[in-house]
Amino acid sequence: MKFQIATLPGDGIGPEIVEQAVKVLKAVGERFGHEFNFEYGLVGASAIDETGDPFPEKTFELCMKSQAVLFGAIGHPKYDNDPKAKIRPEQGLLAMRKKLGLYANIRPVTTFNSLIHKSPLRPDLIEGADFVVVRELTGGIYFGEPRGRSENGQKAFDTCVYTKEEIERITKLAFSYARKRNKKLTVVDKANVLATSRLWRETVQEMSKEEKEVEIDYMFVDNAAMQLIQWPKHFDVILTENMFGDILSDEASVITGSLGLLPSASVGVHTSVFEPIHGSYPQAAGKNIANPLATVLSAAMLLDSLDLLEEAKCVREAVNSSLDEGVVTEDIAEDKAYSTSEVGDWLASFIDSRKTVQV
Ligand code: IPM
Ligand code: MN
Repeated sequence: MKFQIATLPGDGIGPEIVEQAVKVLKAVGERFGHEFNFEYGLVGASAIDETGDPFPEKTFELCMKSQAVLFGAIGHPKYDNDPKAKIRPEQGLLAMRKKLGLYANIRPVTTFNSLIHKSPLRPDLIEGADFVVVRELTGGIYFGEPRGRSENGQKAFDTCVYTKEEIERITKLAFSYARKRNKKLTVVDKANVLATSRLWRETVQEMSKEEKEVEIDYMFVDNAAMQLIQWPKHFDVILTENMFGDILSDEASVITGSLGLLPSASVGVHTSVFEPIHGSYPQAAGKNIANPLATVLSAAMLLDSLDLLEEAKCVREAVNSSLDEGVVTEDIAEDKAYSTSEVGDWLASFIDSRKTVQV
C-alpha cells in the first residue's frame, strides 16, 4: 500500500531523530511491501527563520493531505530568554494542534527491563508499571481567552476554559483506551478549587453511569503528582486537562528511567501527529548523539494508526533488541555509546534482516 507521511523535523535534534524514524519506516516498507512517501514541511523556529510563521499555511496543507504526520521537536534557546519575543516556535506546535483539531494527546508510559536501574525510583516500585496519559490538548489555559497584559504591563492574565462537549469527547476516548487495557481510569483534576475541574468531574461522573466496564477514580492533581512517584503501578489510564497533563506526563517519563524513549500520538479531527515527548535538546543539535528511540517508537504508533499492526510490532521488536544488545546512544549506554545514525542504521537492518529470514 502507499502512504503519504507529512514529515516535520522542526528544530534542534528534530532533523537527526526524524531521519532515523524515516530510515526505519523505509525498512518497514521494504520488508512488508509498502511505499511511504515522505514530504517535508517547516515548523517551529526553523519555519520562523524561513517564512516568519512557526506553522506556515503550506505545512498545514501538507498535514491535511497526508495520512499521518511524523514530527520531531521544536524550540530554540534564543526565544527562551526573550520573554518579549512576539513570535515563538511553540506557537507553531499550538497552532498545529488547534488547526488539525488534535484534542487528545496519548502518552504511553512503559518500563524497559534493561533501563529500570536508570530510574530514580526503586526497581520494585516501577517493574511492570504500564500506564497511559490521555491529555486534553486543545482547550484549557493553553488556549482560553482573554489572555494577555494590562495596558500598563503590570498585570498579566490567562484564562482556563472548558466546555462540556470538549470534556465529553476526550472522556469517550479515554474510556475506549481503558476498555482495551486494564479497565481502570483515573481522572485528575483540581475540583476542590477550579470551576473547570468541577465541570470535568461532573461530566465524567454523568458519563460513568453508562460505562459499565471501566472502574473510575478521581484524584486531585497535587495528590496525583505524589502518587505517580510513590506508586506508579496504581495507574492504568490517566485522563486529565491540558496543563495538568503536560506536567504529569513529563514527571511520568522519568519514572521509567527513559526520557529518551517515550513516544506520543496526538489525535482528533484531522490527520494525527506522532512525536517524541522530549524537546528539541539544542545542546545536542547536529552532534549525532541524541537518542532516536522515542521518535522511532512514535513511528510505531503511526503504523498502528494506519492499521499496520504487524509492522508496528516489528519496529517495537527492533527497539527492544537494540536495548537488549546495548546498541544505544550515550544517554542510556553502559559501555560503548552509539551515534544517533548508527542506532537508526542498526534498527533498519534489524527490520531488513527479518525479511531475509522470512523469505
Ligand atoms: C509538550 C510541550 C509543549 C506543551 C510546548 C512546547 C508548547 O511541552 O508537547 O508537552 O506544553 O504542550
Ligand atoms: Mn510538555
